[in-house]
Amino acid sequence: MLLRVHNLTKTYGKEFAVRSISFDINQGDYVAIIGPSGSGKTTLLSLLTGMLSPTEGDILFDNKRLGQLSKKELAEMRASELGLVFQFSELVGNLNVRENILLPALFTRKFSNAEYQRKCTYLIEHLKLENIQNKLPRELSGGQIQKTAIARSLINDPSILFADEPSGDLDPENSYLVQLLLNEFNKKNLSIILVTHDMKLAYDAQTIYEMKAGQFDQVIKGK
Ligand SMILES: Nc1ncnc2c1ncn2[C@@H]1O[C@H](COP(=O)(O)OP(=O)(O)OP(=O)(O)O)[C@@H](O)[C@H]1O
Ligand SMILES: [Mg+2]
Repeated sequence: MLLRVHNLTKTYGKEFAVRSISFDINQGDYVAIIGPSGSGKTTLLSLLTGMLSPTEGDILFDNKRLGQLSKKELAEMRASELGLVFQFSELVGNLNVRENILLPALFTRKFSNAEYQRKCTYLIEHLKLENIQNKLPRELSGGQIQKTAIARSLINDPSILFADEPSGDLDPENSYLVQLLLNEFNKKNLSIILVTHDMKLAYDAQTIYEMKAGQFDQVIKGK
């Protein structure tokens, strides 16, 4: 078991943003979460990635309880094992596209320099970022920023990718590039938890959960 989520709950005042969610993820599982705006999808991902503390419940990653890790341990785990694509991704303003993609390498050193460069070139080619790899974030379109953030999330070959609307700013052609890339990494055993409104992407997952009012309302596909 890679990720075990038990009775996860987050409240803001009397409101439940996430309510008693439990599920398990094995290595290589691909899960999509869909649901209306405000149903708790981003809150759930923030809890799963340790950016937000739950009001109740447990998250076990590789049998380690997220809440019991020190700040340093959490940061190390996040950099080396988790791939993160946020709903509104931010890049480092004074680094170009290639440097932004390579940024997680500075914190972890999982691979050699040569290997990082090779992986970076592969991701840049796959996402058709060649012509903009030397540009700074302020010179990029929203979709280009999003593709750069996706490449950055995969540079360390994480165990699990958490992606919040990774195709939200992309046209159909670029969404398709992202779709192919996610499927390829998933075939190589990357686990994926994807939040999306794009049913074309969602249907690649083995399991689709629909979130409503903080709960997994129904399983649309899968177990
Ligand atoms: N920091 C916060 N303080 C108070 N309420 C919050 C906070 N963050 C989120 N919420 C509330 O929690 C609920 C779930 O928000 P969340 O961002 O998880 O929704 P979402 O499903 O990701 O929506 P969208 O599809 O629009 O991105 C919403 O009602 C929101 O107003
Ligand atoms: Mg959201």
